[in-house]
Amino acid sequence: ARPTAMVIAIDGPAASGKGTLSRRLADRLHFAHLDTGSLYRAVGLAVLRAGGNPSDAAQATEAAYALHPETTPLVLADPALRADEVASAASQVAIVPAVREALLAFQRDFAAYPPGNARGAVLDGRDIGTIVCPDADAKLFVTASVEARAERRLKELRERGVPVIYAAVLEDMRERDARDSQRAVAPLKPAADAFLLDTSSMNADQALDAAISFICSKTGLS
Ligand code: DC
Repeated sequence: ARPTAMVIAIDGPAASGKGTLSRRLADRLHFAHLDTGSLYRAVGLAVLRAGGNPSDAAQATEAAYALHPETTPLVLADPALRADEVASAASQVAIVPAVREALLAFQRDFAAYPPGNARGAVLDGRDIGTIVCPDADAKLFVTASVEARAERRLKELRERGVPVIYAAVLEDMRERDARDSQRAVAPLKPAADAFLLDTSSMNADQALDAAISFICSKTGLS
């Protein structure tokens, strides 16, 4: 058996900057990285591709159990996962307790045995510090005001050439926040022992520096 891997849990709402931060942290620490939102997106996409309805619990559950650990890394690399209708399908399947249950083992295995023999793993999502890895070595809850997140999302969409208006992006962001925070199972909320990182007025480098200094002081990494 390998020595226990170190686990860094990163949670937060959509467009908080947690994805970029997690990738850069994993790079810096030479840890493996799992974007757990892409698992929910994969389930949502599978239901859409089968012509089904993502808010149908039975269809969503079937799609979640059909994800196999050996093929999941390939599925997670599908660029189709980034589409807006897939994000929306993901937030619908994420409400279903059996879907969450089905995805738990994959996430916990990744944390315990990070691929590539890495010494640790960074997992980002909504419930990593609270449910998936409650014993994580360091937990961060990354936030930013809904306006700052809508601005970032707007910029990202415009860079991809998608014509959008700020008011619509803001409205969409509010809806997704409400769905993620108000669901009965594993709602988005900071773990009691999470470090709160508000990135509203930070750039990506500043967020990385703040995260690194917290993680080093918490875990003794240097
Ligand atoms: O971070 P994202 O936009 O890729 O997440 C897609 C959806 O998946 C989001 O609406 C919430 C859900 N999700 C979740 O419920 N639990 C996680 N650990 C990660 C994502």
